[in-house]
Amino acid sequence: MSGPLRLGVNIDHVATVRNARGGEYPDPLRAAKIAEEAGADGITAHLREDRRHISDRDIDRLMDHLTVPLNFEMAATEEMQQIALRHKPHAVCIVPEKREEKTTEGGLEVAREENRLAHYLAPLREAGCRVSIFVAADKRQIEAAHRIGGEVVELHAGAYCDAHAEGRFDDRDREFAALREMSQFAHSLGLEVHVGHGLTYDCVQPVAALPEVMELNIGHFLIGEAIFMGLDPAIRHMRGLMDGARRSEYRSAI
Ligand code: PXP
Repeated sequence: MSGPLRLGVNIDHVATVRNARGGEYPDPLRAAKIAEEAGADGITAHLREDRRHISDRDIDRLMDHLTVPLNFEMAATEEMQQIALRHKPHAVCIVPEKREEKTTEGGLEVAREENRLAHYLAPLREAGCRVSIFVAADKRQIEAAHRIGGEVVELHAGAYCDAHAEGRFDDRDREFAALREMSQFAHSLGLEVHVGHGLTYDCVQPVAALPEVMELNIGHFLIGEAIFMGLDPAIRHMRGLMDGARRSEYRSAI
């Protein structure tokens, strides 16, 4: 019997559309409030170094007005640490960041930077933020995330989702097996397991059915679907698929 599965809605791309023209709309806070109503258990926002989507003011407003927890996605830089310590969000999710990338391309290279990251994270933990580390489904990185004091690992689902979308079924099955095995492994270390990046209606259910997975963070696809059906139904449909997958009849099929 698996526990409840939370949905974190990432609102970055509401800000992407706003910033394409400048000005005030569409408003990421308004999207976040609709997401709360539609059943999101949390809101995720990534304040990038180049501020290409979410702005500092968006974070101020989210902190002031959200009733569900904010998962503050950030690179492990001094600037972001100061911002996180000022706001003390419910959770910080540490991600790799490259200026030239379109989106977060891979997991954090934790093993190579273990000492620096352990020191970096300590004040965030002391401030009461739950520390999540975004990693590939890779044993070495998960072990390192555990050693540096991460409480949560978010496994990068991008390779699984891309293979699914492109019909590369052998790759998809291999990537899914890695997510399944590494969610079991992370759970056995005492880490809470989240999964995110690239999830859609078509590929969410096998991941949602993994009993060790406690939270899915989903953004780009939902904001895209909102263009066609509205944000509230887009989120409710995703919630329904997740909840359906959590039921035992689906789980017995994987
Ligand atoms: N989780 C993390 C750590 C991410 O970096 C992202 C993308 O910003 C997401 C989840 C959401 O991914 P997507 O927008 O592809 O659903």
